Amino acid sequence: MKAVHVLNGPNLNLLGTREPETYGHATLADIEARLAARCKLRGVALYFRQSNHEGDLVTWLQEAGRAGEPVILNAGAYSHTSIALHDAIKAAKTNVLEVHLSNIHARESFRHRSLISPVARGIILGFGALSYDLALEALLAESGAEDQQAQP
Ligand code: DQA
Repeated sequence: MKAVHVLNGPNLNLLGTREPETYGHATLADIEARLAARCKLRGVALYFRQSNHEGDLVTWLQEAGRAGEPVILNAGAYSHTSIALHDAIKAAKTNVLEVHLSNIHARESFRHRSLISPVARGIILGFGALSYDLALEALLAESGAEDQQAQP
């Protein structure tokens, strides 16, 4: 695995201050920094992005698909509504791991269905910011990449 894309959907730019009792206190920048450090150790490029616009996520999924690079996707509320993202994942023909900070099945019923799940390689949810780390570990383990020395 040469690169990994971490794509974040609407309102995830507010992590840290948004409903911390549900989503925790880590900001998106905190999560990015942790993943960047892990990727650096493994010699993997990290493309970490967030958008409040569905079409941006579609475009980025297409890019990752063209490059054949895996994606960790927290589509936020679009997970529950977006046929466009479902279709983009299907078309991308690359591994897409669905992540959620919260356990969506323990919340309101409108969050119980994800349109991403049927086309996702796997799903990790409910571990707060750690869900992202676990998703990255899963991709790294599957790719079988060897640990590389950290750059000075
Ligand atoms: C979320 C869960 C979604 O239901 C919600 O709309 C979000 C965040 C999560 O990470 O737990 O924005 O994807």
